[in-house]
Amino acid sequence: MALPKVTVVGAGQVGATAAFLMAIKGLADIVLIDVADGIPQGKALDMMHSRSVEKFASTVTGSNDYAATAGSDVVVVTAGLPRKPGMTRDDLLAANGTIVRSVISQAAEASPDAVFVCVTNPLDVMTYLAWKVSGLPSDRVLGMGGVLDSARFAYFIAQATGAPISQIDALVMGAHGDAMVPVPRLSTVDGKPLTDILPADEVAEVVRRTVFGGAEVVSFLKTGSAFYAPAASVTSMVSAILNDTGAVMPSCVLLDGQYGISDVYLSVPAALGRQGVVSIPEAPLDAAELETLRESAAGVSDAVAAIGIEG
Ligand code: APR
Repeated sequence: MALPKVTVVGAGQVGATAAFLMAIKGLADIVLIDVADGIPQGKALDMMHSRSVEKFASTVTGSNDYAATAGSDVVVVTAGLPRKPGMTRDDLLAANGTIVRSVISQAAEASPDAVFVCVTNPLDVMTYLAWKVSGLPSDRVLGMGGVLDSARFAYFIAQATGAPISQIDALVMGAHGDAMVPVPRLSTVDGKPLTDILPADEVAEVVRRTVFGGAEVVSFLKTGSAFYAPAASVTSMVSAILNDTGAVMPSCVLLDGQYGISDVYLSVPAALGRQGVVSIPEAPLDAAELETLRESAAGVSDAVAAIGIEG
């Protein structure tokens, strides 16, 4: 049976790692695209050399030409500059905006029926830009932020409680940045709310580590930003889309009145399936959590206004 086709634009740290994870899982035939001549070709060939070891069915092809991406089912966008120490994700706004515009217009022309998953930062603004530039319905354009932030939250909860990671269900909503909104009350360890398990000061510390989780990785690496957990996170979203599972994952989606927020891309729990965003079931936030989420949304709106996005 023919595998679905996934294009990964950007054959750098995040894109190549995601392509390799998707290949090992046999999720799809993968096309890696990059502006750098030889990089996607070389990395694709290297991955194909591992095929007899890992025994995966996927093929991985590298190219600099969007013709190779035609008819993709999913397009993952990781093209762009990563953060350096001291930079916020917003510092990347102008440079990555130009890159995402160019990538989306070419990729959407080659694959008009694809679901687009943006990874490039600043994520919420880039996903909004991708939606506008693509001209596609919003359910087919989404971003990877909440899955990663929630994975980091889960890691720090596991560290603080000693519970196995498999028992932890962590939820981070909102902007993929310093204004993210971890929700300890709706995050559970073996089904029990985190707020019932840890004292308030320890919950606050877990939240703090989560918010700065990405920056902590950047401070170690110095020459780039995180890529293993981002790649794993986007791979899990692509898997839910291709396999039409309807899994609810915190995803950067266009809000249209949910949580009293409109015309902003922001991470909230969303059911993912073959057509992209299937539904956006609202999490039962209390008044304070809702207020924090709205503040987070306002920050994204301001950043979108600053970059002056039109269709
Ligand atoms: N088209 C295609 N690829 C491009 C373009 C473009 N217009 N511009 C840059 N690239 C490629 C680069 O050549 C590079 O190979 O994007 C790749 C980015 O890779 P890295 O520099 O390794 O960055 P990475 O760590 O993968 O992060 C990429 O994802 O998580 C976010 O903040 C991160 O915005 C950054 C993006």
